[in-house]
Amino acid sequence: MVNSAKPPASAGAELQKQREYASLVRHINGLRPMKYCIRTFGCQMNENDSERLAGMLREMGYNEANAGDKCDIIVFNTCCVRENAELKVFGHLGALKKEKRDNPDMVIAVCGCMMQQENAVRQIKEKYGHVDIVFGTHNLHTFPELLYRAVSTGERTYDVWDIPGHVAEGVPIERKDRIKAWVTVMYGCNNFCSYCIVPYVRGRERSRNPETVIEEISSLGSRGIREVTLLGQNVNSYGRDIGYEKGFAGLLREVDKIEGIERIRFMTSHPKDLSDELIQAMADCPGVCEHLHLPIQSGSTRILREMNRNYTREHYMDLILKLRAKVPGISITTDIIAGFPGETEEDFEETLDLLERIRFDFAFTFIYSKRAGTPAAEKEGQVPAETVKDRFDRLVRVQNRISRQINDRLLGQEVEVLVEGTSSSNKRMYTGRTRTNKVVNFRGDESMVGKLVNVRVDNVQTWSLGGSVV
Ligand code: 5AD
Ligand code: SF4
Repeated sequence: MVNSAKPPASAGAELQKQREYASLVRHINGLRPMKYCIRTFGCQMNENDSERLAGMLREMGYNEANAGDKCDIIVFNTCCVRENAELKVFGHLGALKKEKRDNPDMVIAVCGCMMQQENAVRQIKEKYGHVDIVFGTHNLHTFPELLYRAVSTGERTYDVWDIPGHVAEGVPIERKDRIKAWVTVMYGCNNFCSYCIVPYVRGRERSRNPETVIEEISSLGSRGIREVTLLGQNVNSYGRDIGYEKGFAGLLREVDKIEGIERIRFMTSHPKDLSDELIQAMADCPGVCEHLHLPIQSGSTRILREMNRNYTREHYMDLILKLRAKVPGISITTDIIAGFPGETEEDFEETLDLLERIRFDFAFTFIYSKRAGTPAAEKEGQVPAETVKDRFDRLVRVQNRISRQINDRLLGQEVEVLVEGTSSSNKRMYTGRTRTNKVVNFRGDESMVGKLVNVRVDNVQTWSLGGSVV
């Protein structure tokens, strides 16, 4: 079955049904030690969805494979925001053909945003016959049922819902981190920025109930989680669809009261919806970190209009002034796209000029990627690849210099670090982040993990700081 249009009637009954399927899968697998591997592409929302996939797999009797283990199931949680993310998935799937021939019992499942596009599902069907299960973002929670069908019949099982159902609460979750947690507060997006595929694959905005969110975070706090990041494509419109009048600023104030949670972050914010109430809540709430990710996308008002972003360059700069006045020391990061259709050299120079004026702590820079079905894909004046690459390189050069200069000013200062564990590149070093979201590496010990420590910065790089515990 592909593209079933309707979600089922009752969320509770659906979840109960999935639990039953999970126990059937467990029963089929018997006492064999089953191993899973999940490959996640894309944003934090996908990372959080993968934690749900891991939770469901755990309920079905699977454990995460260690490096070198043979996997009984591989799940690809895909992203389609840019073409290169899609190409990577197809590359990985192609590489698995031989493994599947040698080990036909291994289940290959593909889910996530890319699967909400008919075209991608068709390609998998036609060229990647070794994929056993395909499902989309709207029916992530039906994974146990689909896996049961695949393992009990050996048949390929495709099920992608066209429309989202209820916000599926109660899906088991296996969190990757014991110090920090992602908490999705809303799904979907209503903004339809003209380059972006997200509203087509994630559907319209659906907020989770504030009581459920608070309950979840309280339980995280009591289990030792110290930091939460509230997630949504546009968290600033949280609550509008469910009539929650206090809005995101109100939710933030509630989360700030929760015991055990020392730090609160959130993303992503849209400049058109970043309200004075939210800035005030950031200023008032001690737990809310002095960091904001506020994608600007372009420094040219003309291009912003073409992008359907609904704000001007001046409005964005005003927001930055307000934020810096209300939240002293705030670090601001952003997303920028180079080479949007019709972007002239002058438009691009406005973006460079804005980088110099605002001085972001960090910018995620992207090469414009044409997404079929979005209005921008149909626009005249697609910018030649070499020009885009040149602009992208110039953006990166300017931003790297600024990031480094901002970090240089921290030399000799004391910063508060939430210790996350050992560094992935050097197991003798410990690592954590400042409230402003900067990575700090230092010599420490296991007893510091999960604690706040003060570190004096004694060396500085473009993307990280080094120091010693004081
Ligand atoms: N091409 C390039 N970058 C894109 N983004 C979204 N869609 C595209 C696209 N088609 C970027 C935006 C967004 C970030 C998550 O991805 O900058 O903020
Ligand atoms: Fe995409 Fe714009 Fe929605 Fe962000 S706000 S997910 S860029 S449509």
